[in-house]
Amino acid sequence: MTTSTRTKTDHLDSTDPQVLDYLLVPHRNFNLINGVHSPDEVDQIQNWEIRDTDIFVVTYPKSGTIWMQQILTLIEAKGDVTPNTEHLNAQRVPWIELIGSEKEFNATPSPRLRVTHLQYKFMPLAVRQKRGKVIYVARNPKDVLVSYYHFHKYAAMLETPKDFNDFFEKFMEGKVFGNCWFEHIKTWYANRDNMNFLYITYEEMIKDLRSMVERMCRFLGKDLTEEQMASVVEHSTFRTMKQNPQANYKTVPDSLLDHNKGTFMRKGTIGDWKNHFTVAQSERFDSAFQEKMWDLPLSFVWDINDVNSAT
Ligand code: PPS
Repeated sequence: MTTSTRTKTDHLDSTDPQVLDYLLVPHRNFNLINGVHSPDEVDQIQNWEIRDTDIFVVTYPKSGTIWMQQILTLIEAKGDVTPNTEHLNAQRVPWIELIGSEKEFNATPSPRLRVTHLQYKFMPLAVRQKRGKVIYVARNPKDVLVSYYHFHKYAAMLETPKDFNDFFEKFMEGKVFGNCWFEHIKTWYANRDNMNFLYITYEEMIKDLRSMVERMCRFLGKDLTEEQMASVVEHSTFRTMKQNPQANYKTVPDSLLDHNKGTFMRKGTIGDWKNHFTVAQSERFDSAFQEKMWDLPLSFVWDINDVNSAT
């Protein structure tokens, strides 16, 4: 699938997906995935016409993308779950970097809800001049690494790691789709004043989902009744989403996501890195974190007990 007539979300639905060659392709210091992204089309994104009602969720992979897709569509539908049962999250809130996405973007009525894993430099210029809104979701990067490792084991478009150590090295070197986690968050956060920007973390959502939904509603100018708010929260919990085939890619064919080898809604918690990292890996990660993040006023929760004891 290298033509621009088909988007990746088309084949998420397909019962007969093509076998693709999904190599990482470096483009402007960012790895795209062959057959899923086109460098030319990605370069065109900066010229897209943006409406004030456009909403972009930005994540480094495995940071809560599907969760935000769920919450955003529920907020827009004022708690009505009908749209969530009819289409995959990725179809309700598609990726802007996928092949064929511009045509679809232009044809979509407002409000247009989109997600991206791209770095800041690829975004529409208008977004970088305060048109539309951006919600950046960050997750503690040790858990991101672990979630991404498991995803690589069953996602056809990503190279299967030899083992955890192999993936750890690739992640640390940024040799994955999304590249370097540190660079992703740093460049987005450093440019926050250029955008209508909301920063939230996965861990805050775990700690108090309702408060996070309320914060999103304020940012988006949405006024939900108590009943609508309760529905948004109820249908965005890990437990509910895990049971909803549309909310966790259960309907995607095995040739894209091998459901025998993994599950999208895997653990949904904080601190699973402790079951994977060696002490040496954890120390190495900590020193990389100190070295690269010292100048950002951002902190993370690394242990589920730190959330529970704070509440
Ligand atoms: S992707 O492939 O980048 O779109 O993945 P992404 O959706 O960003 O991240 C998947 C991880 O998010 C977890 N998740 C949740 N956790 C808690 N509550 C809810 N509702 C929820 N929805 C998704 C999902 O389980 C993946 O994390 P891990 O650690 O692998 O469980």
